[in-house]
Amino acid sequence: MHDELKEFSREELAIFNGENGQPVYIGYEGKVYDVSKSKLWKPGLHMRRHQAGTDLTEEIGGAPHGIEVFEKFPQVGILKPEKDPMDEHIPDLLLAVFRKIPMLRRHPHPMTVHFPIAFMMLFPVLNILYLLTGNRSLETSAFHVLVAGLVVAPVAMLTGPYNWWLNYAGKWSKIIAIKIFGSLILITLILVTFLWRILSPEILLQPSGARILYLIISLTFPVLVAVLGWFGAKMTFPH
Ligand code: HEM
Ligand code: HEM
Repeated sequence: MHDELKEFSREELAIFNGENGQPVYIGYEGKVYDVSKSKLWKPGLHMRRHQAGTDLTEEIGGAPHGIEVFEKFPQVGILKPEKDPMDEHIPDLLLAVFRKIPMLRRHPHPMTVHFPIAFMMLFPVLNILYLLTGNRSLETSAFHVLVAGLVVAPVAMLTGPYNWWLNYAGKWSKIIAIKIFGSLILITLILVTFLWRILSPEILLQPSGARILYLIISLTFPVLVAVLGWFGAKMTFPH
């Protein structure tokens, strides 16, 4: 399409401002025109106010003419889309990937968090159902759900900081502090519970003080993931 046309960044376009014998280029609607041949654009200033070497898209509204004035002048290039200030920290290559696969930008964290949330909410429910019914397979299921939580929680803990860097430029906030601190507590307790259950598979079967502690810890999981999710959603949906 524009294969033979040069791409200009704003900085590159600024060089062609008509000064020091430079050609006079102007940017308009993503296109770069060479107006060096125009008397009205010498020496790089049009009607004493429009500066050559810049993007004048916004300024044509005040002109007594329309865009038909460009017909006489050759297009010499295209203007690179301006980087959103919010994207300043993101490498161009990554932005190009996002233009192709937009969901990679916003979705990694929100998509993966629901797995640890679901598993860690189910864990105490299955434990309690076991205690109520005495059906051993419910306790076994609880353990499997805990293992699943152990596998997926780190995924949420990796995509979280990634989305934080990407969409919030890694800006520190109270919410982020709560999320990092909460995640660390969560993963520690999951690990402790997992090891405990590995070392004493009978923990929930016999009445004991330890069993009560095991149950209390398992009951903190829904609270922790709810807090993490609540504050997460506060960032995604501020109001
Ligand atoms: C207050 C704003 C402006 C005024 C008063 C103004 C005025 C004029 C006048 C009187 C002409 C010659 C008559 C004509 O060809 O119709 C002209 C030509 C032209 N203007 Fe503007 N203009 C303004 C803004 C702009 C802007 C923002 C651009 C670029 C985006 C622009 C680009 C041109 C071009 C390319 C020509 C043709 C020059 C030529 O044929 O030598 N003008 N302008
Ligand atoms: C297991 C741990 C975590 C859980 C369960 C969790 C949960 C959530 C949830 C439910 C959301 C709302 C998603 C939506 O529906 O849009 C969210 C958003 C968010 N979380 Fe987490 N999170 C966890 C860890 C982290 C960590 C460690 C960080 C970073 C330090 C983090 C940073 C964020 C950010 C920045 C958002 C906003 C995403 C966006 O708007 O693009 N999260 N989180």
